[in-house]
Amino acid sequence: MTEGIKFSVRALLVVLVAMGAAQAAEGDAKVGKEKSAMCQGCHGEEGISAAPNFPNLAGQFQKYIERQIHDFQDGKRVDPMMSGMAASITELQDLKDIAAYFASKKRMKGTPSGNKELAAKGKVIFYEGNADTGVYACSNCHGENGYGKDAQNNVFPVVSGQTKDYLVKQLSDFRSGDRHNDPAGMMSSVAKKMTPAEIDAVAEFVAGM
Ligand code: HEC
Ligand code: HEC
Repeated sequence: MTEGIKFSVRALLVVLVAMGAAQAAEGDAKVGKEKSAMCQGCHGEEGISAAPNFPNLAGQFQKYIERQIHDFQDGKRVDPMMSGMAASITELQDLKDIAAYFASKKRMKGTPSGNKELAAKGKVIFYEGNADTGVYACSNCHGENGYGKDAQNNVFPVVSGQTKDYLVKQLSDFRSGDRHNDPAGMMSSVAKKMTPAEIDAVAEFVAGM
């Protein structure tokens, strides 16, 4: 009897310790808050950015954030401001902690667009795409709410509630090929089929979703 209890207590301890270790290895949002002080200057303490050309990071998938930083570090994605910032993160654990911090924040949320006509055009593109030119509906990959698929599938980032300026810039960069770090060219192949007017409309809608 006593043996049994001792055994299970020890087993429980082993599990708890293993869980603690897994958590640290995966990123600790508490520590990440301090480590991300510099990032907060542009991306905001709560992950809501200070200016429309800086993306919101609040509630973005941790793994997506990590992948983008790796891509900036490897030169697969280039930005005059962000490339240097990414290079300053030299420890993998720091990156995981910082990414965990922003991922843990209350997810970015848009304010509905004042330009109803433009947003309505964008809504059609988001949910239906453009059959004439072969633009896939965004909701296929970014989800019905623009929140991506689910926490396990972090390939498709949260786009809903992102700033309009940033959305337009990314879609235009994918279209021109300036940004080409998307897995299997999934995003570029969509953006390359879009017109600047479609990009403007869908960004108007997505920013206010
Ligand atoms: C001086 C302002 C500035 C600072 C400081 C800064 N960033 Fe950025 N960040 C940007 C800009 C601008 C972009 C958008 C780049 C582009 O247009 O491709 C960006 C993009 C990103 C992205 C990609 C977001 C996405 O949705 O794909 C991540 C992740 C990111 N920053 C994380 C960080 C982290 C982590 C730090 C701190 C080490 C940091 N940033 C510091 C300006 C900044
Ligand atoms: C076939 C799947 C697919 C479709 C359809 C798709 N996307 Fe994407 N999108 C992706 C992937 C994958 C990424 C992430 C790229 C990366 O990891 O760098 C992405 C990235 C983005 C980004 C950059 C996000 C950021 O934080 O930097 C924006 C903005 C975006 N998509 C908007 C759209 C819009 C708007 C549409 C519809 C017109 C759309 N996407 C359709 C797969 C798709």
